[in-house]
Amino acid sequence: MTIQVTRVGRLNSEQVNSVLRSAMLAPSTHNTQPWLFRCTGTGIEVHADPRRILPVTDPDGRELVLSCGAALFTLRTAIHALGFHPATTLMPSRADPDLLAVVRPLAERMPDQKVVRLARAIPRRRTNRRPFLSSVVPKPTLAALRHATELEHAWMPNLDAEQCRLLHDLTARARRAQLADPAFLAELGRWTGLGASTRDGVPSYAMDGSPADESWLLDEFGEAAGDPRPAPLVVAIGSLTDDRLDRLQAGQALQRVLLTATASGLDASFISPPIMVREARAELRRILGCGVWPQVLLRVGYGSPLPWTPRRPLDDVLLDTLISA
Ligand SMILES: Cc1cc2nc3c(=O)[nH]c(=O)nc-3n(C[C@H](O)[C@H](O)[C@H](O)COP(=O)(O)O)c2cc1C
Repeated sequence: MTIQVTRVGRLNSEQVNSVLRSAMLAPSTHNTQPWLFRCTGTGIEVHADPRRILPVTDPDGRELVLSCGAALFTLRTAIHALGFHPATTLMPSRADPDLLAVVRPLAERMPDQKVVRLARAIPRRRTNRRPFLSSVVPKPTLAALRHATELEHAWMPNLDAEQCRLLHDLTARARRAQLADPAFLAELGRWTGLGASTRDGVPSYAMDGSPADESWLLDEFGEAAGDPRPAPLVVAIGSLTDDRLDRLQAGQALQRVLLTATASGLDASFISPPIMVREARAELRRILGCGVWPQVLLRVGYGSPLPWTPRRPLDDVLLDTLISA
């Protein structure tokens, strides 16, 4: 059966298909792809799919909302690049907190070339867990990543050498705590290190070793004994509060940062232990200072090419309406 999505606002069905397929290329924790889309006559709704929550890793659904925010930013970018204004309403329904956003493609316009550059990066972006090359990320590129964060109403604090040292230590401790937790390991084992035919979860070829292999984690800081390489850039994305709306915006900021990095020839991967482990996140918050809530930590650098991580079919993530055979 060929699934066809009917037109939405000024987008024809082919364009709707194309922007949805782009949105699905967003990153998500363990590649759970915890989003659902509903096409109405005038807009595309983005819903969180609570059935895809990770009960051990993400009990309050924080990362689920971040992942959906990343998909939302990708959707907006793809619509913009087609020449339409993606008018976006966040959290439009008090009665339905899983309805995270509605995007209405409005008047045609000349796409902004900066956004087109981000749109071209959507299919090229990967989470790259491999060791990075020693080249230092130029300062103007770091400034561009910070600007990308701020455009989406999130914050990228400066990290000095002492903060990076504390972060390194915290990451190692939080990772040890995760690896000592059988429930965490069981969940990790269900979602990662999977065969190549998987449509969700992380295939083993994307992990570069066993899921519990810490080697890439240590490489994040390039500080292995006697390692002369400069440490890769570590960036944090934070928010001023930790509510659902701020998390949604942090998710959009995350994807704007990742696409900006990809467009600049950079790769990124996630440093999650100090954010996922509750006590470690409180400590990380103190390290970052200024009362900012840490939402994402990334290592950014120049990596080697990587195959893509597969996605589910489009009809798996479409809610009921306006699908015709
Ligand atoms: C909020 C969030 C947290 C993530 N945490 C981790 C992590 O702890 N470790 C990791 O290796 N990848 C992490 N990822 C990356 C996902 O595993 C990755 O996005 C997914 O497998 C899809 O692959 P892709 O990003 O290459 O498209 C995270 C992604 C998101 C959005």
